[in-house]
Amino acid sequence: MDNLQELINSRRTVYRFSDREISQDILDEALLAASNAPCHKHTHPWKFYIIGQSSRQRLVPTIARLAALKSAKKNSVTVDADRVRAVGKITQPPLLIAVTSKKSEHDAFREKEDYAATVCALHNMVLSLWENEVGSQWSTGSITRDPETYEALSIDSAAEEIIGFLKAGYAETVRKVNKKPITDIVTYLD
Ligand SMILES: Cc1cc2nc3c(=O)[nH]c(=O)nc-3n(C[C@H](O)[C@H](O)[C@H](O)COP(=O)(O)O)c2cc1C
Repeated sequence: MDNLQELINSRRTVYRFSDREISQDILDEALLAASNAPCHKHTHPWKFYIIGQSSRQRLVPTIARLAALKSAKKNSVTVDADRVRAVGKITQPPLLIAVTSKKSEHDAFREKEDYAATVCALHNMVLSLWENEVGSQWSTGSITRDPETYEALSIDSAAEEIIGFLKAGYAETVRKVNKKPITDIVTYLD
């Protein structure tokens, strides 16, 4: 895709990926795009943890515990299948990235601005991947917030917040999503 407007407007969250690997060149390009996001005061608050299969395996006990809690809450009769599905969501994507933003314990405004900047970086990454025909899904499931996840990935929860996992790969299917018309979201003031 060589048209920026088309690239932005065609991007959709992708939930199902083929097994095809993503090349290091494509990942590096996406990381470069992320690093060029705007950030107030040049804080560069973002970090990207590329989670390999060994690290994903370290997350499995936590995923299983969270899946069991969720199954119990909805009185599921397919507890084993629920767990297998939850584990697959972490082990299957060809690329899994934990995206963190710098915390500022004593400066709520700085932390908010840094969060905004990290979101820009994450979306730059998403669009860069999309240009290379790689789809992705930003995920903020309970696994991204659990203290055991920070421990398993050696992320210091006092200094950084995981703002989500980015799962990426070549799309098996791309959904159609209806967005609000721009007339619903804009107000012109004289
Ligand atoms: C902050 C944020 C968190 C999200 N978390 C999840 C998630 O936990 N699970 C999920 O299935 N999708 C998640 N999404 C993807 C949204 O569901 C998706 O963007 C929405 O359905 C609109 O579709 P589109 O991205 O194709 O335009 C998240 C998106 C954002 C921006």
